[in-house]
Amino acid sequence: MPVTDALTRHLKARHKFSVVDRLECLGSPASDRSFDVFNPSTGELLARLPDMGREATKAAIDKAHAAQSEWAALTARDRSDALWRWHQLIVQHTDDLSAILTAEMGKPLAEARSEISHAAAYLQWYAEEANRIYGETISAPSTDRRMLVIKQPIGVVGTITPWNFPASMVARKISPALAAGCTIVLKPAEQTPLVAGAMFLLAEEAGFPRGVVNLIYAAEGNDVGLELCTNPKVRKISFTGSTEVGRLLMRQCAEQIKKLGLELGGNAPFIVFDDADVDAAVDGAIQAKFRNAGQTCVSANRIYVQTKVHEEFVEKFVTRVRKLAVGDGFSSHAAIGPLIDSNAMKKVEAHIADALAKGGVVQCGGQRLKNGATFFEPTVLTNTSSNMRIAHEEIFGPVAPIICFEDADQVIREANDTIYGLAAYFYASNLKRVWRVSEALEYGMVGINTGRMSSEAAPFGGIKQSGIGREGSRHGLDDYLEMKYICMGGI
Ligand code: SIN
Repeated sequence: MPVTDALTRHLKARHKFSVVDRLECLGSPASDRSFDVFNPSTGELLARLPDMGREATKAAIDKAHAAQSEWAALTARDRSDALWRWHQLIVQHTDDLSAILTAEMGKPLAEARSEISHAAAYLQWYAEEANRIYGETISAPSTDRRMLVIKQPIGVVGTITPWNFPASMVARKISPALAAGCTIVLKPAEQTPLVAGAMFLLAEEAGFPRGVVNLIYAAEGNDVGLELCTNPKVRKISFTGSTEVGRLLMRQCAEQIKKLGLELGGNAPFIVFDDADVDAAVDGAIQAKFRNAGQTCVSANRIYVQTKVHEEFVEKFVTRVRKLAVGDGFSSHAAIGPLIDSNAMKKVEAHIADALAKGGVVQCGGQRLKNGATFFEPTVLTNTSSNMRIAHEEIFGPVAPIICFEDADQVIREANDTIYGLAAYFYASNLKRVWRVSEALEYGMVGINTGRMSSEAAPFGGIKQSGIGREGSRHGLDDYLEMKYICMGGI
């Protein structure tokens, strides 16, 4: 079945994107099982897609494997040109891709447009970076030897992308892999597979050779992940999602010592010191907390505010949060879309109930909207403390707990007291403090006086149980390259 009218009425190039289940062009065989994709704002059915299982995954891996050596043998310039063409097509089709994204994921259209532009930026960045893969010569310790290092593509890469950024995460993983000379098999999240399908149609138009990019549509619970992790033709797995699933994939990859790139959960502290510009901190907190309705792994999870500026911050922050309109992502006033599903809603409610039972106070919000969908009011909680679940678990929703603190050393200890280490933010102006705090925070990324830091030019990734490896920047390419040391003797 093609995508439904509920989706095509938003599209300009109706013909092109009403065939996102045209699998042959996406490099994968069809299936007789299916699964449905819904709009989380309205509950409307958007598409019925083939649920491709383990056999189809195996076939897609075979295609990627067969295409691997030819793709790797092209010049870097040829791979770069294909990425450029794909970049340009994505830019040209921004309206349609954003509409598909909003329909299946729910985020406001302006955020969807910004995500598509971020996705295009990754393709552009790695189209450029493809031409800059360098090796190394080493001064040999004896005169009769020459030593050098070359970099080669790792091989077939299995990628699994999440529902919260269903376009930019596809680009963030695939573009460095393709630039490095790897071929890929991608499984997008079952809630949001359509924008990935549309991007793959554009990849076909960009002229990637057959078998280089392969898409697997699959509902949860099938064995696609297992096949990707255990098939010896796949040499690397790149996954963005929960720490729990990351652990499972690691276990599945252990047998073959398969390389893994993992971008997992977070528990970002957002610290406002008493020398901060409070208005700027409020702006940053709105962005770090409420972008994508709080459904990002770098969302501010715990907002720590120093005593001297606590009252001013809370008052200004709550005033701003009350103005955030919740609604269908296609409506022009909506700043916050729905949560992805009813489980997400239940988790947010459980976090709030736990905080209230332990003395937390609701300053605004705190309830689901009574319209039957998964909309939740943007919420601010005060009087929160580190013994609450929200201080330790990823909220993944529009709930901002504010914790008052007095002492700078104590707040750093609390900020670091977590299994996660993805992103941290702080606002301060004293330079000595800025350096000391950025070095003391045990996180892969630290934002100083900003609530947003994701960029194609920078290495995105975490430490501790937030992941392994980096995506974006020149470092993102290294994850898809093997180093080979070559030694010539008898000279
Ligand atoms: C994520 O939540 O995984 C990505 C967020 C971002 O790119 O800013």
